[in-house]
Amino acid sequence: MPTETVYGLAADAADARAVAAVYEAKGRPSFNPLIAHVCDTAMAREIARFDDRAERLAAAFWPGPLTLVLPVRDPEAVCDLARAGLDTVAVRAPAHPKAQALIATFGRPVVAPSANRSGRPSPTTLADAVEETGGSAVAALDGGACAVGLESTVVALLDEARLLRPGAVTRAEIEALIGPLLEAEGDAKRSPGRLARHYAPNAPVRLDATSARRGEAYLAFGPAPGGERVWTLSATGDLREAAANLFALLRAADRSAPTAIAIAPIPAEGLGEAINDRLRRAAGFVG
Ligand code: TXA
Ligand code: MG
Repeated sequence: MPTETVYGLAADAADARAVAAVYEAKGRPSFNPLIAHVCDTAMAREIARFDDRAERLAAAFWPGPLTLVLPVRDPEAVCDLARAGLDTVAVRAPAHPKAQALIATFGRPVVAPSANRSGRPSPTTLADAVEETGGSAVAALDGGACAVGLESTVVALLDEARLLRPGAVTRAEIEALIGPLLEAEGDAKRSPGRLARHYAPNAPVRLDATSARRGEAYLAFGPAPGGERVWTLSATGDLREAAANLFALLRAADRSAPTAIAIAPIPAEGLGEAINDRLRRAAGFVG
């Protein structure tokens, strides 16, 4: 299933056998819970307990690249296996028209982890999704290249509000509506998407590289220097364009069979927080 962020491997959220098939296709540890995708806030309220903060964020950013972790209301609608046995549920209303149409037609929540095998970069085109997990899928829906290119921001709204995964909706945009977000640390075992060595290509990744060494591929930020195996995340230094290109260029660089993939420094502000989070994990550092 295409979404505006990355391609997902979709299954009926209520059907534990379908959910098990998704875990199997990803080779994912079964303690990692999945996101229930809904078509709107009304469907989300049926499965999760919304408070004021959740209402405010959903009104501002849905449909779109924001996932809310909330207390579960209907534990049958999103089965235990999909929630990894937690009493919370992650919900998101994706903006892509084909995802919207699929969920609306189905009429119930659909779980959809990113369609990569566990630990690998998320797919941002149908071809990449098919290469990763297509052998397990009964159907593939082509929605073109993903406009955002990075997974959704994940915010837990339990006793405290915590940023579990930075993403396309920035920390500043969220804090403007609900106040300061705590860090994920205390909650880390609840969001294994935060494991080190995640989103990783085959080649090792070298960060903050101002140029490539012999044998390395290079991902620039700004105008691309000349040379073989060189790409730029954004020629104009635009963070949104860099996010959209990130995973596809990691794959392209990897296919050139380099000794390593060297990546230019990326500014930390705004979307840069999410891009740097994915890069640190691709390089195998704990964030
Ligand atoms: O953009 C996205 O969110 C994509 C597209 C397909 O929608 N999906 C995606 O799913 O990235 P996945 O499964 O790769 O990542 C889900 C993240 C993981 O880090 C997981 O640990 C966290 O959400 N998560 C899910 N349920 C949770 C819960 N109840 N408590 C804490 N974290 C949870
Ligand atoms: Mg993922």
